[in-house]
Amino acid sequence: MAAAAVSSPSYCLRTSDSPRQNSTINYSQLLNVSSHHASTSRPRVAANSHFPFIEIASDISSSSTCSYNNCFTKFKIRENQPRLVYTFPVLLYNNSSSNNIGIDSHSSLPKSNRHFKAAASVNLRSDRHRFPAMADRPTNGAGSSRRLRHVSSVAAPPSKVSRLNAVVLGDALASKEDDLVIPNPDFSAQAHVHSPGKYLEMYERSIEDPAGFWSDIASQFYWKQKWGSPVYSENLDVRKGRIDIEWFKGGITNICYNCLDANIAAGNGDKIAIYWEGNELGVDATLTYNQLLHNVCQLANYLKDIGVRKGDAVVIYLPMLMELPIAMLACARIGAVHSVVFAGFSSESLSQRIVDCKPKVVLTCNAVKRGPKVIHLKDIVDAALADSAKNGTVVDVCLTYANESALEKESTKWVEGRDIWWQDVLSKYPTSCDVEWVDAEDPLFLLYTSGSTGKPKGVLHTTGGYMVYTATTFKYAFDYKPSDVYWCTADCGWITGHSYVTYGPMLNGATVVVFEGAPNYPDSGRCWDIVDKYKVSIFYTAPTLVRSLMREGDELVTRYSRKSLRILGSVGEPINPSAWRWFFNVVGDSRCPISDTWWQTETGGFLITPLPGAWPQKPGSATFPFFGVQPVIVDEKGAELEGECSGYLCVKGSWPGAFRTLYGDHERYETTYFSAFPGYYFSGDGCRRDKDGYHWLTGRVDDVINVSGHRIGTAEVESALVSHPQCAEAAVVGVEHEVKGQGIYAFVTLVEGVPYSDDLRKSLIMTVRKQIGAFAAPDRIHWAPGLPKTRSGKIMRRILRKIASRQLDELGDTSTLAEPGVVDQLIALADS
Ligand code: WTA
Repeated sequence: MAAAAVSSPSYCLRTSDSPRQNSTINYSQLLNVSSHHASTSRPRVAANSHFPFIEIASDISSSSTCSYNNCFTKFKIRENQPRLVYTFPVLLYNNSSSNNIGIDSHSSLPKSNRHFKAAASVNLRSDRHRFPAMADRPTNGAGSSRRLRHVSSVAAPPSKVSRLNAVVLGDALASKEDDLVIPNPDFSAQAHVHSPGKYLEMYERSIEDPAGFWSDIASQFYWKQKWGSPVYSENLDVRKGRIDIEWFKGGITNICYNCLDANIAAGNGDKIAIYWEGNELGVDATLTYNQLLHNVCQLANYLKDIGVRKGDAVVIYLPMLMELPIAMLACARIGAVHSVVFAGFSSESLSQRIVDCKPKVVLTCNAVKRGPKVIHLKDIVDAALADSAKNGTVVDVCLTYANESALEKESTKWVEGRDIWWQDVLSKYPTSCDVEWVDAEDPLFLLYTSGSTGKPKGVLHTTGGYMVYTATTFKYAFDYKPSDVYWCTADCGWITGHSYVTYGPMLNGATVVVFEGAPNYPDSGRCWDIVDKYKVSIFYTAPTLVRSLMREGDELVTRYSRKSLRILGSVGEPINPSAWRWFFNVVGDSRCPISDTWWQTETGGFLITPLPGAWPQKPGSATFPFFGVQPVIVDEKGAELEGECSGYLCVKGSWPGAFRTLYGDHERYETTYFSAFPGYYFSGDGCRRDKDGYHWLTGRVDDVINVSGHRIGTAEVESALVSHPQCAEAAVVGVEHEVKGQGIYAFVTLVEGVPYSDDLRKSLIMTVRKQIGAFAAPDRIHWAPGLPKTRSGKIMRRILRKIASRQLDELGDTSTLAEPGVVDQLIALADS
């Protein structure tokens, strides 16, 4: 819907009572009129303010007067009653052209910033207006801050005035033409962060005074002993020496205590901690915080009994049974370092991880049902343990939960002396267990993630900073309230399950749904069935699931009420605007904001995320940084880009949840993350910042593919393929995939004389499934008599990507190839 310019200068947003009528505000006009009014009431901009915020009034049907706040170029629109509604970030640009507003000449704003040009007009569409008088005024931040780059004005003037179409949460469906979804005042009024002004105030403090900001938050947790001074220390610059990050050093605490005992002490012992929903309909269980603590303590006591001590590694290979978060918490309670391996990884991947961290014990179960399929996890563990023994790591104990709904005990293969049934021993242990108090910088867990080489990286997180960060991000990004029921569909085998199934929610005393099964079993309405059953209010998932359910049609959603839903969340990959809108309109009935959270295994928690009560949302954008996070976008030379730009996403300075090292390989930590752009943490992602300051993640820029939100290194898949006796060489690239986001596309050169066949294709795919896991299986094997290489032997992946996505007219210059003819051969074999 295009914005129609209002015919006469108008500084307020006019709204008709009739449904679906558009309201339009044109900022140019707003500003001109404003400057006209300035003869009596001049706009003033705070010293060094780089926050050209505008508040848009709505529901004003009579002529209004206009006055100004003296900060952030705020325009306060008055009527008989104040009806201020929205604050909008970064819509103005430095420019000395004709559309100037008068800036108070006494303002200490730098000269270059004295002129602003309006850059956007907002066209508000609404089905049913209902704005109560808005009492809640955005707070005026203190003005300064060279460092708040994401909200700083754009240096270059926009080429044209942009027109933004908007709907208000709960008022209308978001349509293709809508750029913005604006929180409604009711929602904002109850939110922890109710306006961009409030965000700015908090954000500014978090950047100017990180020690004070995070200390205040950390003080809300239980510490046996308070941290020392300084609150944090960091070096993120390889040129200045070893990369080092520490938060709350000297502080003595325990994250399990804060998740369980502290909540129980606060009177929440009988609150449901976990609603567990089994794979089969009607199979479920619950644990209160008291019961969860008992279970955790029994396991903790058992682990201590078999000799697991502070600092020892424990490998956990479990599906989404309650025993998985129980196991994580039990390790944390005794200071052991857990390494959860996603139960979709193959025995070889599991063995690789076991050999790397040498655990005393592996925790697993005999089998699991996902959908109609039984997966024999214990067999995988047996193979992994045999393999790791060959490689010098012998694990003495394999504690196995009998998941009898999937496989009877009697049918489970057993190694006497090593294997122990979980249920047989645990009930014998006391239900209380002393806490092992640990330093904030003692390790909490290891989690392996794919990199651009064949060897996965052991991302290591420590205790105190991670605790404070996951709890805080959870609270604000999901606007969590104690009455919420929260469901994150991620598996605890990935970082999302660590930070936002277990630790973040439980630190907040939340009620969490844990789902064992598959979202399309028995049909694709299962998620909404679960939402209704437990009255889920916060639902956090991945775009791949959204897209796959979207394909099944709306009826499978709309047959369920979903009225408990309040907030939706997305993670794992960029969510494309059409999936965003479906999620918003159909799943959330256009009344639930979507927190599109950008973060990584390495970051521990959200770095860029909407705050649902504060920001107008743009479908597909992760919006703005969380407190304490300074994202920067750099060019290939590492120069920071200002304003509207696109480039490599880095972060300046540390945040409490950052990982501290790669286990056993600090050098790789430094070279992978801190050497490409010295002075910054390099995320490996590309990012665009639009002229309103919003961040749009554009995907990985390294050799990592993001399949259904799972990171897979191309090198890992290639090394699995070449281990096949008939494969001579392989090159793997990511291609766009309708459901998975990216699919795996493998070019394979066979050993001389081996003929192409479908059986061989299958066998190559099986090899990858076996070595890494089913989720890493290539979607396509493309026979390659040769690969396009430079004269120095480097594979030109750019060309392979174009062939894989059939963009054959965009192959670019192929003349520098050692053998340009291979490109034609590959094209000829594209559909064979
Ligand atoms: C991608 C998952 C766009 C990104 C938490 C990142 C995203 C990688 C988003 C980390 C998002 C995650 N928008 N891209 N909201 N969230 N990513 O370590 O490429 O499994 O680098 O952590 O997922 O994946 P990881």
